[in-house]
Amino acid sequence: MKSHIRLTPGFYTAAMIGFHRVTLEYARTQTKALYDINFEIKKGEFCFLVGHSGAGKSSLLSLLLKRLEPTSGAIYFGGENLRALRGDRIALHRRKIGVVFQDHRLLKDQTVEDNLLFALRVLGVPKAEWENRVTRVLRLVGLVHKKRSFPEELSVGESQRVAIARAIIGDPPVVLADEPTGNLDLTNAITVLEILKSIHARGATVIVATHSRELVEAYPQRVLVLKAGQLVRDDRSGKYSLS
Ligand SMILES: Nc1ncnc2c1ncn2[C@@H]1O[C@H](COP(=O)(O)OP(=O)(O)OP(=O)(O)O)[C@@H](O)[C@H]1O
Ligand SMILES: [Mg+2]
Repeated sequence: MKSHIRLTPGFYTAAMIGFHRVTLEYARTQTKALYDINFEIKKGEFCFLVGHSGAGKSSLLSLLLKRLEPTSGAIYFGGENLRALRGDRIALHRRKIGVVFQDHRLLKDQTVEDNLLFALRVLGVPKAEWENRVTRVLRLVGLVHKKRSFPEELSVGESQRVAIARAIIGDPPVVLADEPTGNLDLTNAITVLEILKSIHARGATVIVATHSRELVEAYPQRVLVLKAGQLVRDDRSGKYSLS
């Protein structure tokens, strides 16, 4: 079955993110993870990416980060074809994307503040800006008072909020969250979604991969639905309900 969503290639270059006839096969295992994926996301959009386990959500996000190359098709990001990026330009591309994972992946032997400073160093942000940036992102996630705590001294929800702070400390235009609420109860999940929504309200393009029916129902947004590697629905009604 082919995806029903079809647009002409030129269309994608105007979008923040565009997938044009993208397929992905993992070579070693010959697993076809994505088939003929077509969609575009405009600058400043918020959208959920949903689908059962194995549907291809993380694979799609890895393609956007250029951690994987599509087997065929083209992926556009800010008007550029990702296939053409080489060397330093790949690193520059990745700096435009803040990533949040299900497990927070904080450095265990460093405090919250040091985790954030580490990210600023990697991003090459001038030292003069560090203090302001750390305070700003910790305020946004409500954790200024945990600045000197180590990850093991935080709750799971707090750790995830620090991971979000780290993802956005470089002011990336795009934020990808892969099952960011998977380890959280509903109250914490809603807090995390509220933070992601506030990042969106400040102008970022945000994609959230999730299994959570509650979240998708609580936040009426565009929903891209993957099923066994195919994009079977692009729902902008705000009424999509996960089965
Ligand atoms: N590195 C890999 N090598 C081979 N196959 C892989 C690899 N990573 C994922 N796959 C396969 O690709 C398909 C899509 O996996 P993917 O991780 O993208 O799904 P997902 O929607 O993120 O699932 P989940 O909700 O469980 O995280 C699955 O069949 C999976 O087994
Ligand atoms: Mg996944």
